[in-house]
Amino acid sequence: MSADHQTSSGFADQTPTGDYDAFAEAYAAENESSLLNAYYARPAILDLAGDVAGRRILDVGCGAGPIFEELRDRGAIVTGVDPSIKMLELARRRLGEDAALQQADLNDPLPFPDNAFDDAVACLVLHYLEDWSAPLAELRRVLAPGGRLIVAVNHPFNYKFFNPERDYFATHEYGLECNFNGQNVLLSQWHRPLHAITSAFIEAGFRITVVSEPPPAPGAHERFPDEVKTPDSAFLCFLFLVLEAP
Ligand SMILES: C[S@@+](CC[C@H](N)C(=O)[O-])C[C@H]1O[C@@H](n2cnc3c(N)ncnc32)[C@H](O)[C@@H]1O
Repeated sequence: MSADHQTSSGFADQTPTGDYDAFAEAYAAENESSLLNAYYARPAILDLAGDVAGRRILDVGCGAGPIFEELRDRGAIVTGVDPSIKMLELARRRLGEDAALQQADLNDPLPFPDNAFDDAVACLVLHYLEDWSAPLAELRRVLAPGGRLIVAVNHPFNYKFFNPERDYFATHEYGLECNFNGQNVLLSQWHRPLHAITSAFIEAGFRITVVSEPPPAPGAHERFPDEVKTPDSAFLCFLFLVLEAP
């Protein structure tokens, strides 16, 4: 863990972690209706995915399955993977016995054959990984030619904005203090500068077809007037990309 992080009170007894088993219920509850998930990341990912009817989609780091469910409702054939058993249990409860859910970690080879999917979605997952090269190679392998990888990842400018004293240009681990539905959680995440993000996708053989910094979804201002001051307010938090496999 980077020496950059000094925990504040309420987090001092915590070790930074990316293991969602420790706070699965609290995170899932937060994700359901939060500004950053329900009114920002999730609608933006679904918007980028567009018409998914009949498409085979891998939802990596699917968590409790909110994106899986939305894609399935739109007619996609969805498979979800996550390393957290507890998140998968919540996803199972939401999605039912028939849902294709498996335990898998992006740091390991994916348990699927080549060309198995038309799209993969990685929403708020890649910033848990130190090294993106093997995971991106795996995602490319399981995508059919022309398939899309649709990504939401921490926006690196946001990190610099809130941590002006830290080294923007170095890829490094840091502790992020979060409160999920009342539970304090110290997350371990990886900051990478913009050039490292784009280079990783290009070096993995993807073509960058969309880079997006969308506003929050309609209704965000009414629901979160303190954070979203006007109906057309936008903010920087996540960076959204669509990558095409050759
Ligand atoms: C912020 S949550 C996002 C959940 C879901 N994608 C969404 O947007 O609602 C991050 C998820 O990534 C998973 N995750 C963390 N490290 C991972 C890894 N190495 N490989 C795959 N998934 C991982 C976590 O278990 C968690 O469910």
